[in-house]
Parts: sequence; C-alpha cells; structure tokens
Amino acid sequence: MEKALGILVHQGGTLGSAGTATAMPSKLSLVALAIFVSVTQVVIEASSWWSLGMNNPVQMSEVYIIGAQPLCSQLAGLSQGQKKLCHLYQDHMQYIGEGAKTGIKECQYQFRHRRWNCSTVDNTSVFGRVMQIGSRETAFTYAVSAAGVVNAMSRACREGELSTCGCSRAARPKDLPRDWLWGGCGDNIDYGYRFAKEFVDARERERIHSKGSYESARTLMNLHNNEAGRRTVFNLADVACKCHGVSGSCSLKTCWLQLADFRKVGDALKEKYDSAAAMKLNSRGKLVLVNNRFNIPTTQDLVYIDPSPDYCVRNESTGSLGTQGRLCNKTSEGMDGCELMCCGRGYDQFKTVQTERCHCKFHWCCYVKCKKCTEIVDQFVCK
Ligand SMILES: *[C@@H]1O[C@H](CO)[C@@H](O)[C@H](O)[C@H]1NC(C)=O
Ligand SMILES: *[C@@H]1O[C@H](CO)[C@@H](O)[C@H](O)[C@H]1NC(C)=O
Ligand SMILES: *[C@@H]1O[C@H](CO)[C@@H](O)[C@H](O)[C@H]1NC(C)=O
Ligand SMILES: *[C@@H]1O[C@H](CO)[C@@H](O)[C@H](O)[C@H]1NC(C)=O
Repeated sequence: MEKALGILVHQGGTLGSAGTATAMPSKLSLVALAIFVSVTQVVIEASSWWSLGMNNPVQMSEVYIIGAQPLCSQLAGLSQGQKKLCHLYQDHMQYIGEGAKTGIKECQYQFRHRRWNCSTVDNTSVFGRVMQIGSRETAFTYAVSAAGVVNAMSRACREGELSTCGCSRAARPKDLPRDWLWGGCGDNIDYGYRFAKEFVDARERERIHSKGSYESARTLMNLHNNEAGRRTVFNLADVACKCHGVSGSCSLKTCWLQLADFRKVGDALKEKYDSAAAMKLNSRGKLVLVNNRFNIPTTQDLVYIDPSPDYCVRNESTGSLGTQGRLCNKTSEGMDGCELMCCGRGYDQFKTVQTERCHCKFHWCCYVKCKKCTEIVDQFVCK
C-alpha cells in the first residue's frame, strides 16, 4: 500500500460521498434481456463491438446525449443483445468505445516489436480477420479489450458520468490502519466488472452452437479470455491514499479504491499471453488441456484452441498482414531483429533524418528551452 501513498490526484466526489451511489442495474434484468434476443442473426465474425473503439468519442457522446433510439441499431458491430443493452444504457456506450480503444492501443503497444502487431487486415472490425482463428493473439485481443471496458466503466462511474453508478462502495480493507479514513471517491470496479461482463459476453452467450462444434469451442475460449481480462483489472486495482494535516505531517489519511495504470494491465496480460494454454474440446464439450502435463489454467490465464500462423506473409484468411515493409533492428536478436522480423527474407537499408529536442535548459522561472537537433540514422525495412 505504501507505494500508493504518493498519489494525490483526486477529482470529483467529496469525502464521505461513497454511499451516495445510485443503484446498480439489476443483473437479473440484464440476463433476461439476453434471453429475449433472437439467435437467428447472421453476423460475420469480423464485425464486432470493438468497432465502437474506432468511432470518435466526441461525436459519439453528442449523439448519445440526444438519446436517439435508432442509434443503437445503426452502430456497427453490436450483436442483438448488445443493442438491447445499448438502448437501456445509452450513456454507457461512449465508455465501451473508449474502453475498446484503450485496449487496442495497449495491444499495439505490447506487440509493437512483433510480427503480429495488433493491426487490422480489414477495417470492419478493429482487429480484423485475425479473430477468425482461435489463436493466442485472438486470446490476448479479447482479454485486453474486455479489460479496457472494465477500466473505462469503473472510471466513468467515479467521475459521475453515468446515471446508474457512482463512487465505489467497496468495503474498507481489513488491513487498513485504524486511524486512516476510508471513503474517498473510488473507481467503481464492481460496477465496471459487472457491466463489462453483461455487455462483452452478451455476444458470445446469445449464439447457440451444437455441443462439440468448433464454434462452441470458440465461444468457450472467448468467454474464458474475456473473464481473464476483466479479472486482471479487478485484481490489480489497489488502495490509494491522500495525506491531510499540517503541511507534510500526514497525520491523517483518506483512502479509496483505485484502478491500476492500464499499462500494468497490459503487461500482466502479455505475461499471460506468453504462458497461454493450448486447449481442445473433450467428449463432454468442455475445454481441456491439449497437454495435461501443464497446469490447468485458472480464470486469469489465457487459453487458445488454434496454433498461430507465423505472420510472415500476408494471408487474409489468418489475419496475417505479413512483415514486408516493417521496420526492424539490425543488431537485435529478439523478435524485433531483422532476422526474425523479416522471416529470413532480408532487408533494405535507408537513411532518414530524425529531429529531436536536445540541449534543453531550464530557465528561471519557469520554462524549459530546447534546441532542435537533426541526426541521420540508418533504418532497416523488411523485404
Ligand atoms: C476501410 O477504410 C477505407 C479507408 O479508410 C475505406 O475507404 C473503406 O471503405 C473501408 N472498408 C470497409 C469495409 O469499411
Ligand atoms: C493462408 O492460410 C491458410 C491457413 O493456414 C492456408 O490454408 C492458405 O494456403 C494460406 N494462403 C496463402 C495464400 O498463403
Ligand atoms: C503493423 O504492421 C503493418 C504491416 O505489417 C504496418 O502497416 C502497420 O503500420 C503496423 N502497425 C503499427 C501500429 O505499428
Ligand atoms: C536495437 O537493438 C539493440 C539490442 O537489443 C538495442 O540496444 C538498440 O537500442 C535497438 N535500437 C533501436 C533503434 O531500437
């Protein structure tokens, strides 16, 4: 907890307001909705609620304030159940979009030095066709976007942006020192988790596949990875505190629940990606380990059912963009090195001019003045 003590940023909500949060949507009513939904729809895999992350959030918020009902049916990528949730919780949609976007950005950051860099093949969905195969990369993408939604929803509640939630009402941690106050306005991770679960999983739950089919395995895989992403956000959230008292004395502290920086969530999920478990369907239609010498995956581990392509050449059916034209590092022996990145095809060398801020000086008081330095650097690009 000590590490969080320095965090002082605390906007919105006053002390003691933790109890003023309005009611959660009843979980039962959401579940009931999902059952009403017709299961006969035909949706191509490539179009998904992730496409909400592609829209301009400002535009979206304007549209939602007007509260135009037809909007939910016009939004690309929503399943029937998600459209119903959209109608009921229109003010939430902007944050679903922001969450998806946060997830995508994190995915692109985590995979920036890899052959598969989390970019899209076709733009009907954010992630493109890669999602058609149940690979490790697909597992990561589902997890990180579900995590992004929990993150965005939890924060939106705390900031008072949503009509159905407010500050966190999490119980005071048992190990919090007795003279510290509990009750700053915390991120509402309970609500974020629950809404993200209803919304993100709706799409998987409303499709009915015959037991033992490939599609049913994909559904189980997606649900597992969605949950792993949500739990990662939940588990990494921590207590943050603020000092009061005579300057610097810190004789009094107020503490609340706070989301971890999303980079930490991305790092944790990347580790889960590296240790993801290969699964297959058993005769009873459950996912089981392909190699049972490994540990059974927990709810926080990622699982996949298809091997990954090597992502070396462009192949639309696997969602591989290929690595032609990608920058590589001539001296690195890792995935970003030219040998691995270019799949042995070789590379071209270019000289480019880079401009950077340099020789920065601090002037009293208070600004920093820099010069511009240009430098000619070698760049290497895969053939
Ligand atoms: C993909 O994006 C391009 C340019 O941004 C656009 O012209 C094209 O219509 C888009 N395709 C689809 C299927 O949305
Ligand atoms: C694309 O990948 C699929 C599945 O691995 C394979 O069957 C097909 O031959 C590939 N197509 C090309 C053009 O490489
Ligand atoms: C990912 O790789 C493709 C080519 O393989 C490239 O066009 C794209 O700019 C890359 N995206 C990012 C975010 O680096
Ligand atoms: C290339 O890789 C080497 C070794 O890993 C590293 O020291 C260097 O900073 C990298 N260069 C760039 C431009 O990323």
